[in-house]
Amino acid sequence: MARTIIEPFRIKSVERIRMTSRDERERLIRAADFNVFRLHADDVMIDLLTDSGTGAMSASQWAGIMRGDESYAGSPSFYRLETAVRDILGFTTVIPTHQGRAAERILFSVMCKTGDVVPNNTHFDTTRANIEFVGATALDLPCNEGRDLESRFPFKGNMDVEALEAAFRRYGRDRIPLVMITVTNNSGGGQPVSLENLRRVAAICREHECPLYIDACRFAENAYLIKCHEPGYADVPVREIVRQMFELADGCTMSAKKDGLVNIGGFLTTRDPELARREKDLLILTEGFPTYGGLAGRDLEAIAIGLDEVVEEDYLQYRIASTRYLGEHLTSAGVPILQPPGGHAIYIDAKRFAPQIPPLELPGVALTVSLYVIGGIRAVEIGTAMFGRTDPESGVETPAPNELVRLAIPRRTYTQSHIDYVVEVLREVYLRREEMRGLRFVEQAPFLRHFTAKYALLGEPSSS
Ligand code: F0G
Repeated sequence: MARTIIEPFRIKSVERIRMTSRDERERLIRAADFNVFRLHADDVMIDLLTDSGTGAMSASQWAGIMRGDESYAGSPSFYRLETAVRDILGFTTVIPTHQGRAAERILFSVMCKTGDVVPNNTHFDTTRANIEFVGATALDLPCNEGRDLESRFPFKGNMDVEALEAAFRRYGRDRIPLVMITVTNNSGGGQPVSLENLRRVAAICREHECPLYIDACRFAENAYLIKCHEPGYADVPVREIVRQMFELADGCTMSAKKDGLVNIGGFLTTRDPELARREKDLLILTEGFPTYGGLAGRDLEAIAIGLDEVVEEDYLQYRIASTRYLGEHLTSAGVPILQPPGGHAIYIDAKRFAPQIPPLELPGVALTVSLYVIGGIRAVEIGTAMFGRTDPESGVETPAPNELVRLAIPRRTYTQSHIDYVVEVLREVYLRREEMRGLRFVEQAPFLRHFTAKYALLGEPSSS
């Protein structure tokens, strides 16, 4: 039996990649004030900025787009989505939203009030922001291995269950309206959560009669990693693992832009009819009637089909193998990465990659600039530009705990030779890492500054 894992699809429709030269890219990145978010996507050759909404839909999803029914109320496409969610995730109430953060906003507006605390393994930034927006506190409780970039523990996404018990003792059930767990843990490196950990978290929640919600964006990748690494699950079908994961939860928020295999969409689920009623009232206010949320009927149809395709084991085997392939090749080239490779992305440790650049000189941003200039690759900094804080009074800047650069892999979009190219470019950048230069902020917004910031190379005036 051949061992090569091939892409389990053929390509029917292609998108041209515009080739650019290094000189052109030097000019373009300067014109973008060294912030890759400010580039035109046409000027990027391999776009690894995010795996969210950037994947390729299948021929059956495109067929579903044509079949999508655009009725304002009671669209058959909604009922197809409802059936898919019930069959795969086991929830009977589905509230469609235009993307994951809209589901979060509705959930936390209904469940949280000022002074509440929401524990999670690690909140994604929109989740945290939506909790803080209603005056509550987002509490990250990653397991110890999850804090160590080099540990190869296979379930670094786990929640620290003792810390969860301590949180209940400290704040009391009255201040904890719900517990969340993010699968896979994106902000913690795309690392999975084991079923054993999910069961322990669910048991603690049950003991306190506290609802448990899953942030389900990458649930299928998490389930496949359970199959690969958790003792006892090698022969259990992924669909069954998914069923066991969600049976532990009272509801979920979902960005279908990830494991829904679509370009837009999301949903919220709950088992509590009274909560569902209040959530639907809010949905009508900002997203739309409950059988379409913020989406077109065709989007609902594409999500229903995507949910079914994402739990196919051939797809997941290829998906996880291709991320691991990138991680392993970078590791053998000496590039320091967060270990082990996660489900949807590889995270480069820019602190160890370019130790000559101190955190306040933004080594992660410097690496995104080099990747673009040398190879036309776009990655995202997850370090001091994203999470560092400037004291508004003193102007003193506190760096983020880690300086990471994420290479997120869009689903079913790039082939192995694209990934080989990424490895080759990174090898080149790594060999020339001493030439990398730090940057400074020229302009920044008061929040979420990394999206729009302008930077300049140290020692140079700003270009705009
Ligand atoms: N939760 C997690 C774990 C996420 O990774 C994301 C999005 C969201 C919620 C919000 O979903 O974008 O549909 O509103 N992550 C993207 C990323 C943006 O690049 O990792 P959304």
